[in-house]
Amino acid sequence: MGYASLGVGLSSLGRSSLFAKTLAKTPEFSFKSLGIHREDSVKIIEGFSYEIFIRYGDILNSDGDRFGYNNDFVGMIPLNSEKTDALMWVNHEYPIPLFVSGFKAGETKTKAQVILEQKSVGGSILRVKLNRSGNWEWQRDDKFNRRIDAQTDIPLIADRPIAGFKKAIGTLANCSGGVTPWNTFLTCEENYGDYYGEWDLDPNEKFGWAAHFSNPPEHYGWVVEVDPKKGSAKKLCALGRFSHESATTTLAPDGRCVVYSGDDATDRCLYKFISERPGSLDRGELFVADTLNGKWLSLDMKKNPKLKKRFKDQTDALIHAREAADLVGGTKLNRPEDIEQDPVSKDIFVALTGNAEKGDKFGSLLRIQEKNSDPRSLEFTANEFMMGGPSLGFACPDNLAFDAKGNLWMTSDIGQRSINKKDFEIFGNNSLFYIPMKGAEAGKIFKVAGAPKDAEFTGPCLGLDQKTLFLSVQHPGEGSKNLEQLTSHWPDGGKSVPSPAVIQIKIPTSV
Ligand code: FEO
Ligand code: CA
Ligand code: CA
Repeated sequence: MGYASLGVGLSSLGRSSLFAKTLAKTPEFSFKSLGIHREDSVKIIEGFSYEIFIRYGDILNSDGDRFGYNNDFVGMIPLNSEKTDALMWVNHEYPIPLFVSGFKAGETKTKAQVILEQKSVGGSILRVKLNRSGNWEWQRDDKFNRRIDAQTDIPLIADRPIAGFKKAIGTLANCSGGVTPWNTFLTCEENYGDYYGEWDLDPNEKFGWAAHFSNPPEHYGWVVEVDPKKGSAKKLCALGRFSHESATTTLAPDGRCVVYSGDDATDRCLYKFISERPGSLDRGELFVADTLNGKWLSLDMKKNPKLKKRFKDQTDALIHAREAADLVGGTKLNRPEDIEQDPVSKDIFVALTGNAEKGDKFGSLLRIQEKNSDPRSLEFTANEFMMGGPSLGFACPDNLAFDAKGNLWMTSDIGQRSINKKDFEIFGNNSLFYIPMKGAEAGKIFKVAGAPKDAEFTGPCLGLDQKTLFLSVQHPGEGSKNLEQLTSHWPDGGKSVPSPAVIQIKIPTSV
């Protein structure tokens, strides 16, 4: 019996008992939730199928550019009206040094190893086409295929130079992202402090790139806009600097663009940006959420004496957006990760992955409803839409995606230290879930797929055909101590070294 039969889910709406009554009479789906999966494979429920779409190291073009490591966010824009020809962007979040540069703990990392790692992050632009069998294929050697990585020059769009420069070298820590209404991609720099440090972080603690490159920490932690047709990128400093998990866009009635973004760290905040004019995110106003009082608080220093006293100019406030958010009273949340807008209700959903120290072990989904359904509104209501836990069968929600019908797809990210242990044992490996949002099965949680060992599913993206779900399989075998003691051999099996890859899942017509 799967979790689906529990008939609970939309806890904040108090509709559980209604579901329980109607479930047995009106089954809409021909599949049952996947049970607990602990194996080193992608396991998917009957009726669905998947194949590998692209994987780490695949050669993209005649320049020899390769598909990067740890694929995360996937976005698509159409190139034709039939939506069978498209450009795809895939984030590459971080290297696993053992698998990317051959670096082993305890050794001194060489500059050549750092360069290999720099080339493995950022993102990939791919030309993709839907073939006659209904499968998407990326086009080898296409003129659009290219990499943007941690060595690419990227302008900083700000009122003044940052740390003395108008451009940054590279983008990194590219976690989730978004697509703009004008068909560019937004890629978010999340755990940027792991590469060149931060005021409170040792630059050599994690990846140790600062031993060979003196890039300023202030050049990272931004949202980067990528124009896939031109192959260009720019860092949008007006959206603030923090561990951006995602950047989710929506259009206001006057044509301006509103972007929601979460700062994925313990006790960090949720933000929204309102662009100054339609068609550009270069300038605008940044707000932080006070979810206790339902207010968006401006981070414009001209509007707040505390900000005016602390920061020398608005760029300074944006570089230190976390401090600015604390000064104006932003609410500290339990790690805001991905954000998506329900295309039907227009509600905004935020995955809060959890905070064990505050008693929130399993995380939750927060729902934001803007006053008058206007994304420019400075007032909103916030409520807990769904809580993780053993009774619902999921924990640590991370990435979200709505399909065109308004049903929700969700992935979990139970961390390396917790997965398959103690209170988290019941959940098995990280998983993909499907949550119908209307009809008799609304609010039920179907586990659709389980990830390989040590892996996380990231970047769920409905293909333009709405019959395909692209899904990144990130960091399989991350817990491996060395090449002789691998914890995963996905996808090749045997004694092979594990590899991240993007898979395409075929969604049955009954969904
Ligand atoms: Fe890169 Fe917050 O996940
Ligand atoms: Ca994530
Ligand atoms: Ca995560």
